[in-house]
Amino acid sequence: MSELERAAELILDAETVVALTGAGASADSGIPTFRGKDGLWNRYDPRELATPEAFAKDPEKVWKWYLWRRKKIAEAEPNDAHRILARMEEEGLLEAVITQNVDGLHQRAGSERVIELHGNIWRDECIDCDYERMNDPERGEGLEYDELPPRCPECGELLRPGVVWFGEPLPPDALVEAEELARGCDVMLVIGTSGEVRPAADLPVIARQHGARLIEINPSETQLSHHMHVCIRERAAPAMRRLWEEIRAMR
Ligand code: APR
Repeated sequence: MSELERAAELILDAETVVALTGAGASADSGIPTFRGKDGLWNRYDPRELATPEAFAKDPEKVWKWYLWRRKKIAEAEPNDAHRILARMEEEGLLEAVITQNVDGLHQRAGSERVIELHGNIWRDECIDCDYERMNDPERGEGLEYDELPPRCPECGELLRPGVVWFGEPLPPDALVEAEELARGCDVMLVIGTSGEVRPAADLPVIARQHGARLIEINPSETQLSHHMHVCIRERAAPAMRRLWEEIRAMR
């Protein structure tokens, strides 16, 4: 039995399947990953762009980088990995997507239950009051501002992108929900993550400790590979297309 057939069988036999996605799930949409050969952290220093200290030091520089990323994401389309996960949810084969990604492509592909562990790049949040605004890229929102860094329309303080920076806590509700799903699932489909950043990287281990079978879809070996029951060494979009074919053939 091929790894793909084993993965399809595990998914069909499962009561509850959950996906955990990382930057690799959006790579086939043309969105750069963070690590690996063309990774963003090879070109940029995260300490200069993705920490509260960096924002305090130079909010305009941080905003320029996030607007550059928003533009790339706005020009991108969900790929078959996003679309098939949404289809699996629609057909009752997937409970939820837990994502480390901030690009919103799972939602654009039609996924309903998406737990965003690291926030969403399209949200603006005030650093002082509780003002926040979710921009809609499909209406061209959030791609440019009259002034950089933009200011809160309510209190005049700085706005920031609604993402989790290094050294910041994850949104507590999202983390609690993700851990509950990890404890309760029978299968976790781990797609496109290096497993380098915790607590997201702990979720597959929690799932396995609670009896779940783990499936990894990633062209490379990762820090999590040794926990996996099935490894599909392929890019997410083609792998999900083949997995979906296999599931439909076995159903
Ligand atoms: N399909 C599937 N996986 C892919 C593809 C692809 N087409 N291309 C690359 N990958 C894999 C890489 O092999 C790597 O294992 O995706 C993974 C990307 O790893 P990272 O860039 O580290 O992304 P991620 O694991 O999501 O990073 C976690 O780190 O910088 C922070 O907050 C950021 O959410 C991010 C977190």
